[in-house]
Amino acid sequence: MSNVHVMDHPLIQHKLTLIRDKETGVKEFRELVEELSLLMAYEVYRDLPLREIEVETPMGKSMCHTISGKKLGIVPILRAGLGMVDGMTKLVPTAKVGHIGLYRDPETLEPVEYYCKLPTDIEERDLIVVDPMLATGGSAAAAIQFLKQRGSKNIKLVCLIAAPEGIARVQEEHADIDIFVAAVDEKLDSHGYIVPGLGDAGDRLFGTK
Ligand code: PRP
Ligand code: URA
Repeated sequence: MSNVHVMDHPLIQHKLTLIRDKETGVKEFRELVEELSLLMAYEVYRDLPLREIEVETPMGKSMCHTISGKKLGIVPILRAGLGMVDGMTKLVPTAKVGHIGLYRDPETLEPVEYYCKLPTDIEERDLIVVDPMLATGGSAAAAIQFLKQRGSKNIKLVCLIAAPEGIARVQEEHADIDIFVAAVDEKLDSHGYIVPGLGDAGDRLFGTK
């Protein structure tokens, strides 16, 4: 599990508990997903390169560090991944956002692509794929594959809750990817839902059920 980073910060665990609760309504759920994404982003961006610049403080000159202007891209997997975009971009507002639309076929549980719109210079960007749920891993593995086929070399995956099966699939198909999660749950049920999980992330974010 060396490329799996489980974020156990108390604030992350607290907010995760709130979104698991079936009594949490759409408004609060949406706000919490954004807050969780921002808290996770702090750690995901840890290896951003810095460069030195000179700054004049009221007391004199100082050599300081600034983010070196690396090109970043956030790629939400539609639709639930949309809930994580604002949190991820709040800390790095210049990041571009690409969208990959996938839904799981309810019979086969395999992902079906229905939309893809990415920044034109995608191969030059470090990419962060976001999706609240990593269940069978089919959607994340397919999204990463699309990005690699389009020339992306540096990709990270950020999910709120993962099943062991999903982590195993992404590791098997994409051993080079770092995976950031707030929790690894027990298992999948027979419909491919994470147990205990939080139910259907898209429906809870958008109030569609
Ligand atoms: C959910 C979730 C992931 C996928 C995870 O999306 O947001 O994209 O399922 O499952 P997997 O790891 O087994 O592929 P869903 O297909 O329900 O679509 P939605 O976001 O439009 O609700
Ligand atoms: N997609 C979800 O939204 N929730 C799950 O538990 C599994 C897949």
